[in-house]
Amino acid sequence: MITAKDLTKKFGNFEAIKGLDLHIQAGECFGLLGPNGAGKSTFINILYGAVERTSGDLSVLGLDPRRDSREIKKRLGVVTQENALDESLSVLENMMIYCAFIGVPKQERLQRILALLDYMNLIHKKDALIHGLSGGMKRRLVFVRALLGKPELLILDEPTTGLDPAVRHLLWGKVRELKQAGTTIVLTTHYMHEAEVLCDRLVILNQGIVTAEGTPQKMIETHTPGFVGIFALADKRKLLQKENLEITEDSSGLYIRANSMDELTRLHSELGLTPLQIRPANLEDVFLKLTGKEITLDA
Ligand SMILES: Nc1ncnc2c1ncn2[C@@H]1O[C@H](COP(=O)(O)OP(=O)(O)OP(=O)(O)O)[C@@H](O)[C@H]1O
Ligand SMILES: [Mg+2]
Repeated sequence: MITAKDLTKKFGNFEAIKGLDLHIQAGECFGLLGPNGAGKSTFINILYGAVERTSGDLSVLGLDPRRDSREIKKRLGVVTQENALDESLSVLENMMIYCAFIGVPKQERLQRILALLDYMNLIHKKDALIHGLSGGMKRRLVFVRALLGKPELLILDEPTTGLDPAVRHLLWGKVRELKQAGTTIVLTTHYMHEAEVLCDRLVILNQGIVTAEGTPQKMIETHTPGFVGIFALADKRKLLQKENLEITEDSSGLYIRANSMDELTRLHSELGLTPLQIRPANLEDVFLKLTGKEITLDA
């Protein structure tokens, strides 16, 4: 569905993407994670020709975005990071203009829009002006827009940022349904749980290069010992007495990794610690480790 080989993108002298190799299969939900500025949106924009790559090979739906961006745009849907809706027009007007832009046959437009507004629980807002919608409604409307062309490939650039948990869960359900119906999905998100819930495979991008890839489960197995205990910062002195303990610290607490839950609960009772959390490792632990955002304490 998408193959990138040694893809690069320079903005002036700055190299935002530094030799990306990726293969995204039809029917999968593929996650693109990484810190702010990692190059996620740049890659996505290159996929449909909104940004031109500097070098490397790229095939999207069997086409080259450099030559065939019009054709690609007809076959993929994008939930862009910015909503880019016309605030002074109504919901229906915005969607009608977009249908014309992507070439939906005239007689199908209204029906297709109404069905998707209904699907995204927005039908009651069809005549409302955009600037009167809440952030969550606008985001759902951008989903509607992305689906108007019945895309084979759906690109979601931080689709749920800033949304309340109920709307986020609603959108997760929709993404799952679309995937079950055969849509290939590329997702970027800063919510690690979202990536764990939705993605079959993912990569972590850091400063324009892939630092890890695999299924969420595989990445957790590979990059963490399996369990994490988070203890109160006040316990630092007690923990430092113990040798061979790898401790990392951030403002929320002291982190200790272990192979089993038992090891952590033993440590807790032995040293009389205040545990904030003892839990299985998750993708957030992997992310913090690989993007260098965790700080190791000098024991
Ligand atoms: N048009 C541009 N001109 C110059 N630099 C740019 C341009 N677009 C992006 N960049 C730079 O390229 C880098 C990657 O940006 P990009 O938007 O792809 O990051 P991102 O991974 O999507 O980040 P975020 O999580 O904040 O959305 C950043 O350093 C950014 O400043
Ligand atoms: Mg971005």
